[in-house]
Amino acid sequence: MTFTRIEDFLYILLLLLFVSIWLFILRQRHFIKDQEIKYSYRLKDAQEKLEEYITDLDNLLVMLVSIHEFGMTATGIISKEELSQSVINSACRLIRSDAGSLMLLNHETNELTIAASKGLSEEVIETTKMKLGEGIAGRVAQTGKAIFVEDIESDARFLRTNAKHYSSKSFICVPLRVKNRIVGVLNVNSCEKNRIFEERDVRLLTILADQAAITFENIELYDNLQNFYLEMVQTLARAIDAKDSYTHDHADRARHYARLIGKKLSLPEPMIRHIEYAALMHDIGKIGIDETILHKTGKLTNEEREIIKKHPAIGNRIIAPVAFLSPVAPMVLYHQEWYNGQGYPEGLVGEEIPLGARIVAVIDAYDAITSDRPYRKALSKEVAIKELKKGSGTQFDERVVKAFLEILEEEDREPAKAEAR
Ligand SMILES: [Fe+2]
Repeated sequence: MTFTRIEDFLYILLLLLFVSIWLFILRQRHFIKDQEIKYSYRLKDAQEKLEEYITDLDNLLVMLVSIHEFGMTATGIISKEELSQSVINSACRLIRSDAGSLMLLNHETNELTIAASKGLSEEVIETTKMKLGEGIAGRVAQTGKAIFVEDIESDARFLRTNAKHYSSKSFICVPLRVKNRIVGVLNVNSCEKNRIFEERDVRLLTILADQAAITFENIELYDNLQNFYLEMVQTLARAIDAKDSYTHDHADRARHYARLIGKKLSLPEPMIRHIEYAALMHDIGKIGIDETILHKTGKLTNEEREIIKKHPAIGNRIIAPVAFLSPVAPMVLYHQEWYNGQGYPEGLVGEEIPLGARIVAVIDAYDAITSDRPYRKALSKEVAIKELKKGSGTQFDERVVKAFLEILEEEDREPAKAEAR
């Protein structure tokens, strides 16, 4: 009996142990399952975050490359305004914002003004001006350190007067800096009500702003270099004007008409500028021609005529080695070609002649007729127009003559407006 009791007791103990083990296993399984769910959510979160980062970096890379290429474009004619707009568009796209501005610093007045913007009213664009140290943008420009504001309204650094212009609370301002020189600042604010910027957005914008600042600097250096060359060439062109006194002011006038014809023919701005340069420099080769031939009042001999015919090739040799003027060189070389192939130096026909050269040819002819020449006095505008019409389709491109005659008519109708241009 006693034995049975002990046996029963052991049996119950064993049963209890078994149930406990079973319960423990059951609990562990639940725990593991819970953990699995928890980890799978975390993993999903991490994956999403990673994908977001990769997309951001991808976008950033594409934008950096495009901004870098902006500064390195082969035409070399880029304006700061175009770059500013591209930078602010990229910045807004990068951190998913609808509003922002790029402010450039005027080093003479120490004032920041909006060079390009997105989602801001005309009034804000025109009236926003910040002195160094003033408001957030002014502080960033002064210290060169980015400012990240989660809530504009509760931040004492933010000018209250400006707060009303912004529909959101989150704001980032990063400097555009090259070494220790501040070029401007990049402001971006969030328009989505629940979108608060993060530190990561500041980092992305800083990278973008750094590249933009370098590109701004490159444009400035390039502009300076270009202006230096242009001044040099302009001086040379004036020297030709002075040497060939009958063509006084010829170069400047030619440049003026080149721009108007380019616009009339809806040519792209970089091409118009090249044609302007070609108009300015087309006779630069005359620097290599003997003055006695240029000033000869009597009839030129065949030999002398052949010498004068060398001026386009001489001009080409002067201009071609200057990299940024290389598109101008063929326009100078072929400005004496005729549309029907009877010109010089190569007898090119129609579209074979660069459009810039065809434009310069028309302007040059008009100017030659209406100026005093060594062998005759200046002829009237009417005579010049008649000559251009006569040569249209043979010596000159019809399209260019038509555009030029329209410009002359417009000048007749509105001389004041023409003067202003
Ligand atoms: Fe010429």
